[in-house]
Amino acid sequence: MRQRTQVAIIGAGPAGLLLSQLLSKAGIDCTLLERKDRAYVEGRIRAGVLEQGTVDLLREAGVAARLDAEGLPHDGFRLALDGESFRVDMRHLTGGKSVTVYGQTEVTKDLIEAHVARGAALVFEAEEVALHEIDGKAPYVTYEKDGQAHRLDCDFIAGCDGYHGIARRSIPAEVLKSFERVYPFGWLGILADVPPCDHELIYANHERGFALASMRSTTRSRYYVQVAMEEKLEDWPDERLWDELALRLGEHAPHITRGPALEKSIAPLRSFVAEPMRWGQLFLAGDAAHIVPPTGAKGLNLAASDVGLLAEALTAHYRGDDAGIEHYSARALARVWKAERFSWWFTSLTHRFPEMDGFSRRMQMAELAYIRESEAARRVVAENYVGLPLHPSG
Ligand code: APR
Ligand code: PHB
Repeated sequence: MRQRTQVAIIGAGPAGLLLSQLLSKAGIDCTLLERKDRAYVEGRIRAGVLEQGTVDLLREAGVAARLDAEGLPHDGFRLALDGESFRVDMRHLTGGKSVTVYGQTEVTKDLIEAHVARGAALVFEAEEVALHEIDGKAPYVTYEKDGQAHRLDCDFIAGCDGYHGIARRSIPAEVLKSFERVYPFGWLGILADVPPCDHELIYANHERGFALASMRSTTRSRYYVQVAMEEKLEDWPDERLWDELALRLGEHAPHITRGPALEKSIAPLRSFVAEPMRWGQLFLAGDAAHIVPPTGAKGLNLAASDVGLLAEALTAHYRGDDAGIEHYSARALARVWKAERFSWWFTSLTHRFPEMDGFSRRMQMAELAYIRESEAARRVVAENYVGLPLHPSG
């Protein structure tokens, strides 16, 4: 079968779904091709901290009703060293900015529901997706669905297919430059229907390793502990994980409510950026172009800011102005690299590195003490955590 659209979007994760929703609002025809089925996409457990910019985009996309009703505004978070914590007052330090706690899983469900409600061209279980004539005037995408071959002619292709997708790999090797740091540990995460141990997030640097106390609601908690990459999930029964969390969260341990894991998994940590984020008529957005360690809660928010810039650029193109698409890669990468830096720095500050000697440990302790004591240092942390401006001044 042969069809035509203005923008072919590969991948129905947060990036692809939000881009499709924003372009549709602007009257631009797009078709989404997703490899997995709806249940798989909606079942992925991911992070849950939204920058204000991301909330604004979801409102602009018309999918923020549940977010506005159920999202938890957070004005600050806590940093802990060996069990003792202090607060970073984001709202005060950034002149009124904050973040919203709302699961990425929920964001994805809200976006898919909006697509289904408007009868959007969202193809699940699209197999063998391939990109063609990317740097020509008539790009197209081929794929298979229920054993039938399809060709989708388009003006542009948005590669929103994540780190393991096909879009980035369709850019010629001699054009693509990539940059990577793989961290020598992972995060063991648990999701449980128990109240959080505190009303705000707690990032803990401990001699035994990093821990994070987060949440999905006032009745559902999300916790993480740093583990060595060779750790196996079967070696971490719930009780061992709850015990380790209590050790690393110190003064907050008495407030931990234990319960059975709804989900438990170990995720690797890496920093990754691919340049450029545009090749011909192909634009990359989200994890297709970059990965951050989850410490700074930037993954979903970077995907959203890429999509905000790309939706603006493509909308302007169809109104006769190509400045946005010409500058998309440079503008997106400028923001991506600042978020990569913050995520790398925050990970380096809070985790126990295998080769860490006494000097390195004391550098971490001194930097945390400085942040505790200096409003200027806390302001730097706060303004990066709430999210840097989409269009920086100066
Ligand atoms: N063809 C079609 N779809 C594909 C292909 C392919 N060849 N390869 C991957 N996909 C789909 C995946 O099944 C997934 O649903 O693309 C989607 C990519 O979604 P994400 O990986 O969630 O990436 P993105 O939308 O950029 O969102 C980034 O999600 O993974 C988290 O931590 C990450 O929070 C960040 C956010
Ligand atoms: C989460 O709630 O899953 C979460 C929160 C903050 C992070 C990472 C993950 O930095």
